Amino acid sequence: MCVLDLRCIGISRLASRKPAAPPVFLQCLHEHKTQKVTLLHPISEFEKAHSKAESMSNSILVTGGAGFIGSNFVLQWIENVATPLVNLDLLTYAGNPANLVTLEDDSRYRLVRGDICDAEFVAAVLRDNRPRAIVHFAAESHVDRSIADPSDFIRTNVLGTFTLLEQAKLYWSGMDEAARRTFRFLHVSTDEVYGSLGWDEAAFSESTAYAPNSPYAASKAASDHLVRAYFHTYGFPVLTTNCSNNYGPFQFPEKLVPLIILNALERKPLPLYGDGRNVRDWLFVEDHCLAIRTVLERGRVGETYNIGGNSERKNLEVVTTICNLVDEFCPDDGSGPRKDLIKFVADRPGHDRRYAIDAAKISQELGWRPAVEFESGLRKTVAWYLEHRSWVQNVRSGAYMDWIRQNYEERVQP
Ligand code: NAD
Ligand code: TYD
Repeated sequence: MCVLDLRCIGISRLASRKPAAPPVFLQCLHEHKTQKVTLLHPISEFEKAHSKAESMSNSILVTGGAGFIGSNFVLQWIENVATPLVNLDLLTYAGNPANLVTLEDDSRYRLVRGDICDAEFVAAVLRDNRPRAIVHFAAESHVDRSIADPSDFIRTNVLGTFTLLEQAKLYWSGMDEAARRTFRFLHVSTDEVYGSLGWDEAAFSESTAYAPNSPYAASKAASDHLVRAYFHTYGFPVLTTNCSNNYGPFQFPEKLVPLIILNALERKPLPLYGDGRNVRDWLFVEDHCLAIRTVLERGRVGETYNIGGNSERKNLEVVTTICNLVDEFCPDDGSGPRKDLIKFVADRPGHDRRYAIDAAKISQELGWRPAVEFESGLRKTVAWYLEHRSWVQNVRSGAYMDWIRQNYEERVQP
């Protein structure tokens, strides 16, 4: 049995976010139109009837706020900023309104369910809520899924971003002069657009040439180019952030960190692609959210800011550290150390070797730097997953299990 004293590891605030049943304060303007995306939470008449009525004018609009980084951003925003926030999210398999259940009674928060690819819907959300800024997280985000089937990535990341940009530009064009001057569209992107680094190469800076290697990275690169073009062509006030691998609470357990935590806990095999020596630069999600708020507030319009955790680690190191933490929290029951469960499996096709971010620009211009060291952030994250078993159970739907079977059963030992 695992014994976990959250007071010892300083995450009482996170631990208090106990997810429960999905909230009922959904405002549905349109039904989702396409059939391809898997909806985890079907829109019900009940949900539609419980929409919030009060005005959210002068709010910010967040897309994808029910996903991993979006949820952390929304919670951090509502805790620290007075401005109301509207969350536009399709609630695909990766979006979970239960992450935000603690905001159910907060009049400054509203969830609007719908698709960024639906121009009429996006226009209606903008018209009804009159946001003063947009922070765009919504995306398909998992590289392995993009390899298995890129089509949703092109649809949401490219066409969705285009639709959002176009409708936001129209909305912005109709604003009065003062509001136009302060309006911002912040696009959240990834370091994966820069491609792969060799061992001795300098970290990615904002001037590194784009060289995306996976369908996911290519779709994000396309969206970054569209955002850039809307600034250069129309003077639309954009900001772009390119961040490294995030980890922390609420991450869907298809990504390395939560997958390994849960497998280690359950003493299942711990799959490491290839030789396990690929390097990522790990960024604690709350540091990332603060960086986004900083760029939104003080970033120079039209600029790009790289955001990294200054924590390059080989995958094998990450997995071993997680194993040691789980061993510490859930002491040995005679089955041996969890690192013995590591299993090297077939590599990801086109697997990028190394990502590293040079975050000097955001640090020098805006004064932001990561505050959470990798080992302490990982400790908080492992503790969060151990403490939130019901959250884990809820997100592991049949569709999730299908994905795990599809991705891992066919990987043979190299
Ligand atoms: P996620 O997959 O956890 O969440 C994505 C969210 O977008 C979900 O809530 C989903 O329901 C929503 N969504 C998907 N398609 C939509 C659509 N068509 N319309 C409206 N909503 C839709 O993603 P995440 O890990 O939180 O990533 C957020 C953003 O940050 C993405 O743009 C991603 O590319 C970027 N990013 C993530 C990481 C990381 O390590 N997770 C690193 C760099 C950049
Ligand atoms: P992931 O969390 O999918 O993020 P990204 O591909 O965006 O970097 O993967 C992080 C690293 O871990 C990446 O090098 C692939 C590797 N990985 C594994 O070795 N095993 C796994 O089961 C997964 C999901 C990822």
